[in-house]
Amino acid sequence: MNNKRRDFLKLFGLLGLGSISAGRIEAASNTNSGQTGLPTFNMNNYRAPKVDTVRIGFIGLGNRGAAAVTRINYLQGVSINGLCDIRRERVQLVNNNLKGTLQKPVLFSGSESGWQELCRRDDIDVVYICTHWALHVPIAKYAMKHGKHVALEIGTAASVEECWDLVAASETSKRHCIFLENCCYDFFELLTLNMARQGFFGEIVHCEGAYIHDIADSLFDKDKRYNLWRLRENAKRNGNLYPTHGLGPICNIMNINRGDRLNYMVSMSSDDFTLKELEKEAYSKDNTTFRPFSNSRFRGNMNTSIIRTHKGKTIMLQHDTSSPRVYSRLHLVSGTKATAQKYPLPGKISIGHEGWLNDEEMKKLEESYTLPLVKKIGDMAKQIGGHGGMDFLMDWRWVDCLRNGLTIDHNVYDAALWRAIGPLSEKSVANRSTAVNIPDFTRGNWSTNKPLDFSINHKNLTGVKEIK
Ligand SMILES: NC(=O)c1ccc[n+]([C@@H]2O[C@H](COP(=O)([O-])OP(=O)(O)OC[C@H]3O[C@@H](n4cnc5c(N)ncnc54)[C@H](O)[C@@H]3O)[C@@H](O)[C@H]2O)c1
Repeated sequence: MNNKRRDFLKLFGLLGLGSISAGRIEAASNTNSGQTGLPTFNMNNYRAPKVDTVRIGFIGLGNRGAAAVTRINYLQGVSINGLCDIRRERVQLVNNNLKGTLQKPVLFSGSESGWQELCRRDDIDVVYICTHWALHVPIAKYAMKHGKHVALEIGTAASVEECWDLVAASETSKRHCIFLENCCYDFFELLTLNMARQGFFGEIVHCEGAYIHDIADSLFDKDKRYNLWRLRENAKRNGNLYPTHGLGPICNIMNINRGDRLNYMVSMSSDDFTLKELEKEAYSKDNTTFRPFSNSRFRGNMNTSIIRTHKGKTIMLQHDTSSPRVYSRLHLVSGTKATAQKYPLPGKISIGHEGWLNDEEMKKLEESYTLPLVKKIGDMAKQIGGHGGMDFLMDWRWVDCLRNGLTIDHNVYDAALWRAIGPLSEKSVANRSTAVNIPDFTRGNWSTNKPLDFSINHKNLTGVKEIK
């Protein structure tokens, strides 16, 4: 047995059944230095008053929104009180899926501003936003102004200013902006998070994340998304337009916004070698729909960004949705004692350069480091599904936090920071990859904010309806 392996087994024995300690969540220290003239309230520590039944209104019932309604309907202690989509047929479809259940939502459709009516209702606690990106922040701000928490789907910001607006809206209204980064709840990501917390990796030095997913054909499919919105984004912007899947889980592991912060980044894009060709093909079949794209300079296929944290650690983040590659979010965690790498699947751990741990060793690690949250909800989440269960785990978790008056996991500062990588990467790419500063949306509170705590040490755990 080599020394590294002996060390590993020693470490393993010493650590035993580790989990993120619940600790005592202290009464909110809701102050910050407020340098930018924004309010001085720290939403990171905020616990909203408990609500026994979480009343939810959904806006945007396309691919993602329709699936979210189905998932949420599995939860006890929720009431689906509103459904809104500009397309009447989507509202009807989703409402039909609820027939035979106790849910009786009010329906809004056919108008650009139906969502405002939904946001103004008194019988809604949370506005769940699943529209295209351009509407995310306008709806979130309006909803929070009208006293609602928001659950916000992922995407990238149009500008850094928009991210500050989101922070201001949450702090001013003291409403949660729950960021729905589902990959933070994937099983290997949560396992490695707990291992990192228990010191398994030693000091984390470098992490890598990505969104590499070939969705090029679907960008040109008129029926796939509303008004070809995702093609439009890729036709006018050049950078990392989908940073959060790769970045979110890594930021959790590196305690970003809660012990460290992103400092600056450089970003470089290749040229586009596929989208223009696909656009020409689409145009030849339907020149009316695709005429607006005929002069577009499409996003370069591969974008690579490198980020340095305040504490001297590094992150490599990639984005490619238009090359024929096997799906990958990388999820590489490199520490002074061990390394994890999720992709290519299956997830692997090494404690030296000799190779990855074998199946038996991996099983032992899983037994020791699987979080109580996953032990409790994981199997159910896998049955209900949504990207293998992580979507349900995420929805269960934020609903349970609101029902029990807990702080939420991914808040407005995470939303602002992770979404800001889009416009920041564009700026760097446009300037020969010059370094750009990354704003500190916590305004100094990152140094005292407690690390994320996924513990479920409370009694009133949210129930799940019978799975059919
Ligand atoms: N987390 C994930 O794994 C994941 C996966 C897919 C998509 N997403 C995110 O979900 C969001 C939606 O993506 P999608 O693929 O479902 O897109 P989509 O086009 O299928 O859905 C968007 C919906 O918004 C509706 N809409 C447009 N304007 C509206 C208005 N004024 N009022 C009300 N509704 C309006 C559209 O009719 C459409 O039904 C995006 O932010 C996307 O990034 C996340």
